[in-house]
Amino acid sequence: MSYSPYLLKGQKALVTGASSGIGEAIARYLALSGAAVAINYHSEAESAQKLVDDIKAANGEAFTIQADVSKEDEIKAMFSQTLEQFGTIDILVNNAGLQKDSPFVDMTLEQWNRVIEVNLTGQFLCAREAAKEFLRRGVQPHISSAAGKIICISSVHQVIPWAGHVNYAASKGGINMMMQSIAQELAPHKIRVNSIAPGAIKTPINKSAWDTPEAEAKLLKLIPAKRVGDVEDIAKAAVWLASDDSDYVYGTTLFVDGGMTLYPDFIENG
Ligand code: BGC
Repeated sequence: MSYSPYLLKGQKALVTGASSGIGEAIARYLALSGAAVAINYHSEAESAQKLVDDIKAANGEAFTIQADVSKEDEIKAMFSQTLEQFGTIDILVNNAGLQKDSPFVDMTLEQWNRVIEVNLTGQFLCAREAAKEFLRRGVQPHISSAAGKIICISSVHQVIPWAGHVNYAASKGGINMMMQSIAQELAPHKIRVNSIAPGAIKTPINKSAWDTPEAEAKLLKLIPAKRVGDVEDIAKAAVWLASDDSDYVYGTTLFVDGGMTLYPDFIENG
């Protein structure tokens, strides 16, 4: 991979939910771009450790840190430990998320609450701790022109309603307004807060939607680009949003979805 180890040189990053899928790829690409990366995981200690080993084998810097993003005390402890290890933090990737799908009338309060507390409250808790450190430290011009960067991993479902996934779509819609409001509040401090909204990306979360030829053909009807996304598609966007190359980008959502949000049903229709 032709990633420049100078793009994020000297920067410290924390990626939540980095033991698999999109989070793992983002952590790898941030490390390839020169950042030291704290690899947060919830339950997959082994894969998180493997990722750290891979990053170190490529002369990068990383360590694993366990925490449930929905628990305030665990998030506070995770940030203290990261600051102790790295001295400061420049980049937060709010990635941890899950689905608990159910037809609406059968959806339990537990399914609703768990998705909201991980996907939305988890991003709030982590963004707040990161922002405190960005404000305390301010801009270090030799490191980055921003005092800090927060990247929220949202979804096309922040705009596309999703039957059978009401909790998930509501959490992602919430991420959008949360992200923009934090961005508006913190922009005067040179803290850049943005989102990436992935479409259908091949990860464990949606395996059943692409792992048979029949399922993939059905899914491709929703994607004008006629390709299911790869985690690298998202990781490359994250590196850009984390770097000074996006210095004037505040409070925006970058859709990386092969055109899923372009109403593909209207091709030759309507
Ligand atoms: C969901 C996936 C889904 C994709 C497109 C993502 O946010 O997590 O399960 O395939 O959106 O619908």
